[in-house]
Amino acid sequence: MFALGFKETSGFFDWYVEWPELKTDVQRFLPAICSVEKDGGASGESVPKVLMVGCGNSKLSEQMYNDGYTSMVNVDISDVVIDKMRENYKESHPDMEWRVADARNLEDASGTYDCALDKGTVDALMSNAESCAGMAKEIVREMGRVIAPGGLCMVVSHNGNRTNLFQDAVKDDFEWEVLNADKVRLSDMARLINILRTKLGPNRTLRDGLKDPSILAEAASEFRKEQVCDALKEALVARRARRAAEAKAKAEAAGAAAGGDEKTPGDEKDVSGAKDDAKTDYANREGQKSNESIAVGDEKKQGETEMRTEEKVEQLIEEKQPKSQDPRRQSFVYLYVLRKPLEGGS
Ligand SMILES: C[S@@+](CC[C@H](N)C(=O)[O-])C[C@H]1O[C@@H](n2cnc3c(N)ncnc32)[C@H](O)[C@@H]1O
Repeated sequence: MFALGFKETSGFFDWYVEWPELKTDVQRFLPAICSVEKDGGASGESVPKVLMVGCGNSKLSEQMYNDGYTSMVNVDISDVVIDKMRENYKESHPDMEWRVADARNLEDASGTYDCALDKGTVDALMSNAESCAGMAKEIVREMGRVIAPGGLCMVVSHNGNRTNLFQDAVKDDFEWEVLNADKVRLSDMARLINILRTKLGPNRTLRDGLKDPSILAEAASEFRKEQVCDALKEALVARRARRAAEAKAKAEAAGAAAGGDEKTPGDEKDVSGAKDDAKTDYANREGQKSNESIAVGDEKKQGETEMRTEEKVEQLIEEKQPKSQDPRRQSFVYLYVLRKPLEGGS
């Protein structure tokens, strides 16, 4: 799955996810238009300067640009891909810059960018050999160097345990503040391609797969199965959340009712009518208690039935979608958002 260098030369291809899947999270940390304080205290607006690391032939840069990130420099080690991207966008996106560069050693001065973003390059390097971990760290360190103090380094990775690598990469200079390491759901296309790749094995290319109807059909059927399992998982999560919310509301209502029973001195009645009232109150309360215990019994049964149904659904998911250790079968990736400290970093 992971290629060290650029391989597919025709069309576009995005690793893992495209802009629609990343947009909400990226915009949360890096709005396309930031308000800035200008000299003399006046406020104005500015577009963040973004470095796209190992851009490949991904649509991400174009899609981000169209959403307002119009100050973007794209680098990739492959001259083939950079020539192609430059040619593709020279008319539609003339401001976009494309550079052949090794992301481990960039020509930019320290602190040039507001954000450096990588999707798949660190992973590509980590997947090849132990020695490549050093290269991945060098890229992260360089991303840390070229962003300004307070700037962001964003990395999209299939691995949820990359924080140590990121910290190790910059340990001589500063420590990242980890703002986010949450999951982002993979695009349908990325999942289908991943399934296809696991079926093809190491010696057959994606192009071979696309020409083989039987393998395509197998991949499509597995993909559909995964979609059904996802829908079931979502339904389970929603159902559990609803039950938890109902239980909380009931507990709160019961707490409020118990609190309401307490008599304050102002509630006390005339002594003359108090005895009769007390008898009626007692009878009412006893009646209410027996109704409540029937209702509690019914609710308990209903709760147990719901839990049994949920367990069955879980079993069904387990049968249809056995857990795989293969990262290519994950339905999500992680978006790391790391902030360079305002002080202490060079
Ligand atoms: C897995 S692809 C990801 C492409 C793209 N970012 C995406 O999301 O689809 C990794 C890319 O990193 C590039 N690359 C590998 N090593 C690099 C390096 N040292 N400097 C810059 N780019 C590099 C490859 O040429 C390739 O285009």
